[in-house]
Amino acid sequence: MTPQEILLVKQSFAKVAPIAETAAALFYNKLFEIAPEVRPLFKGDIKEQGRKLMQTLGIAVASLDRLGDIVPTVQALGRKHGGYGVRDEHYDAVAQALLWTLEQGLGADFTPETKAAWIEVYGILSETMKQAARQAA
Ligand code: HEM
Repeated sequence: MTPQEILLVKQSFAKVAPIAETAAALFYNKLFEIAPEVRPLFKGDIKEQGRKLMQTLGIAVASLDRLGDIVPTVQALGRKHGGYGVRDEHYDAVAQALLWTLEQGLGADFTPETKAAWIEVYGILSETMKQAARQAA
């Protein structure tokens, strides 16, 4: 990722962080609308799950300057997701729901450049997760 992309992701995440709980709720509603088949994979409290998701995204965003450091953690997360029954195609549904949520939260600040930078981050995280899940299977 370029320094400019990293900056855009950090700045935009900082803007949604104060509304993390609302953003997480919007995200899951959208996800279950796009991909109702993934709803049964979530066994726990969805609010708690939203907190974990935002927390993990926060750690990833904070680590963008040294993504290599978090690769083992992301790989382990990917293997766990394989165990939850998450399939490769579900990552596309999550991408759509995530981008839509960012757009809701950021409005005009969700510029095409910011969107492209998020697609880049999500692509790196999701590819690392999917690959680790495949290798474990
Ligand atoms: C960058 C992508 C993703 C991140 C950062 C992420 C993050 C997390 C985190 C932090 C947890 C908490 C439990 C754990 O440590 O394993 C979790 C659980 C879970 N995630 Fe994800 N996730 C991602 C993608 C996905 C996708 C694509 C799906 C597909 C629907 C998914 C479905 C689930 C499910 C079903 C659980 C378990 C929930 C439960 O036990 O109730 N995640 N995720």
